[in-house]
Amino acid sequence: MTADGKITTRTFAPVDFTSREDKAHLIRQRALADAVLIGYGTLKRDNVRLGIPREELREERIARKQTPYPLRVIVSNEGKIDPTLNIFQTDFAPIVIFSTTRMPRRYQTALRKKATVHLSESTSVDLAWMLQQLRREYKVRSVACEGGAQLFRALLERDLVDQLNLTIAPFLFGGRDAPTLTGLSKQFLPASVRCSLKAVRVVGDELFATYRILHR
Ligand SMILES: NC(=O)c1ccc[n+]([C@@H]2O[C@H](COP(=O)([O-])OP(=O)(O)OC[C@H]3O[C@@H](n4cnc5c(N)ncnc54)[C@H](OP(=O)(O)O)[C@@H]3O)[C@@H](O)[C@H]2O)c1
Repeated sequence: MTADGKITTRTFAPVDFTSREDKAHLIRQRALADAVLIGYGTLKRDNVRLGIPREELREERIARKQTPYPLRVIVSNEGKIDPTLNIFQTDFAPIVIFSTTRMPRRYQTALRKKATVHLSESTSVDLAWMLQQLRREYKVRSVACEGGAQLFRALLERDLVDQLNLTIAPFLFGGRDAPTLTGLSKQFLPASVRCSLKAVRVVGDELFATYRILHR
């Protein structure tokens, strides 16, 4: 995020305002997890594949008895996930979609060719249930969530976050309509979330902080 807490601009366009070191840091965090989780808003806009480009990180995973790439998990309530996105054109790691029966039939048919689709009967995905499914069905013990804001906020509301890796980039964007880490919602979180600062690193003009989230 920027020094004033913004994660993108008001257009939600993919903006590149962090360094190569930050991008390498993101990949290193992704490479530690059994699964990487992303909200459909971020997937749609950033069109990411969620891979691990560095071979040595994949080798470290294998040495830790993990699969070479983390499982790729997409979450969407509405389910109108574009099957032509880049992620669906790659098969280096399985893709799992958690959505609801709101997903239109034609999307279900197209997406089931590329991913495992879990649809719940409710209007929104129960994130705690989703994590239980990942644990039970896919043996996932650690999840790296790469946002976006709406998904991160929903996880915080359910007290499902253990750690926050935060990079503060040397920019100020301003603007009420540019989302912060927890999005644009005017609502307070159900309770303020207490964090404990575990580590801090400075590289150039960027600050890399690791917070442990103290559970309620
Ligand atoms: N600076 C950074 O580090 C960073 C990181 C990530 C993202 N971003 C930026 O953030 C912007 C996207 O923000 P966003 O808040 O829209 O992202 P988001 O949380 O990725 O996407 C929101 C969408 O994800 C699905 N979703 C979110 N929470 C859910 C839940 N609890 N259950 C089921 N589905 C859920 C919904 O999809 P449906 O509408 O399909 O139901 C929702 O509309 C992009 O511009 C991206 O570039 C920046």
